[in-house]
Amino acid sequence: MSGPTGDLRITVDAAGLQRRIDELALISEAPAPVVTRVLFSEADQRGREYVRGAARDAGLALREDAVGNIFARWEGSEPGLPAVGSGSHTDAIPNAGRYDGVVGVLGAFEALAALRRAGFRPRRSLEVVMFTAEEPTRFGLGCLGSRLMAGTLPAARASALRDREGRSLDELRSAAGCTGSLESVRLAPGAYHSFIELHIEQGPVLEHKGIPIGIVERIAGPSSYRVTLHGEGGHAGAMLMPARHDALAAGAQIALAVERAASTSGSPDTVGTVGVFRVEPGAVNSVPFGAYLEIDLRDTRLDTRRRAYSRIRRAAAAACRRRGVRMEFEEINADPPAEGDPKTIESAERACARLGLASLRMVSRAYHDSLFMARVCPTTMVFIPCRNGWSHRPEEYASPAHIASGAEVLAHTMASLAA
Ligand code: GLV
Ligand code: MN
Ligand code: MN
Repeated sequence: MSGPTGDLRITVDAAGLQRRIDELALISEAPAPVVTRVLFSEADQRGREYVRGAARDAGLALREDAVGNIFARWEGSEPGLPAVGSGSHTDAIPNAGRYDGVVGVLGAFEALAALRRAGFRPRRSLEVVMFTAEEPTRFGLGCLGSRLMAGTLPAARASALRDREGRSLDELRSAAGCTGSLESVRLAPGAYHSFIELHIEQGPVLEHKGIPIGIVERIAGPSSYRVTLHGEGGHAGAMLMPARHDALAAGAQIALAVERAASTSGSPDTVGTVGVFRVEPGAVNSVPFGAYLEIDLRDTRLDTRRRAYSRIRRAAAAACRRRGVRMEFEEINADPPAEGDPKTIESAERACARLGLASLRMVSRAYHDSLFMARVCPTTMVFIPCRNGWSHRPEEYASPAHIASGAEVLAHTMASLAA
């Protein structure tokens, strides 16, 4: 390849990167091979400390913001220019694996270390971000760090977030040593020239096609809702069926309506899930007086997602009316899909061509911090295959060779954007 990065000979330390991934995986709330690192848990705190150490080992300068986003920077020769960014998350949902997010943080450190070893001198600064709480586990809302950075989550709304135990984000972040106002998390205009996130695909496409690299041109738009149902409790033996206002039965109808609406929306990309369903009082001989559901509804298109949403609302209202159950239906988030930036995509494709790696343009059905970074700067993602498409489970696996290829593509792409 000609141009300022034409002579670069980058060698990623695949074994070293794998060792770090394995070390971070041992920092978990659950015994190996399960990885669980919920935002601001003790494991998340120790994971953050591990990330800081890995950034220092890569020779990067650290900074943190008020919500705990960690920025690791290699200053360019023109530090005033917008930086080229990369990064992902290291929080992990309960019962997760070791690669989701982690590959994009530790892989980016290794990409920058490899560039340094190759004698590269960036003109633009290169910056790796470890985003706070990409996963929605604690507060029901994912991508907290990147939403605040992009300014799509108002600071006041973030401050008001409470977890299941009633603890607020402000309380938890200050206990974790994050100081300053949440307003200050918002990025200054032009902070980033471009952003490229490395991630496992979390789906089966690359593995099935035998292609080592995916380049993301669109990220599906996620939305989520919480539904609280108030029925009437009573004795499971003594309360006759015509007298019942069973909150669980209404919730079950809503869950099936979600499945039906997503399956019949007219778009193969609509997916709907009820991943949280709690019942009160939760006793075998008691009619449930309360139920609580969280619905996740996504699509690459907004029109079909909206249609599915309307059907769910109508079905939920009808089920509750018929059963005499009162419903509160609240939107948690409804984000539009994001488009990858054509020039950044082409840079990543050139990096693949240069490395002799086949690549495929693809859609990300999972959301990522890139969904929000795409709102502030030209963005794309580099995907690598993962076994059977498995993710969000302990069996998640990506091969060291694929991880190293992803880091090499990232290094070359960042270098060409920063040169
Ligand atoms: C992110 O983890 C998602 O749920 O897509
Ligand atoms: Mn995830
Ligand atoms: Mn992820």
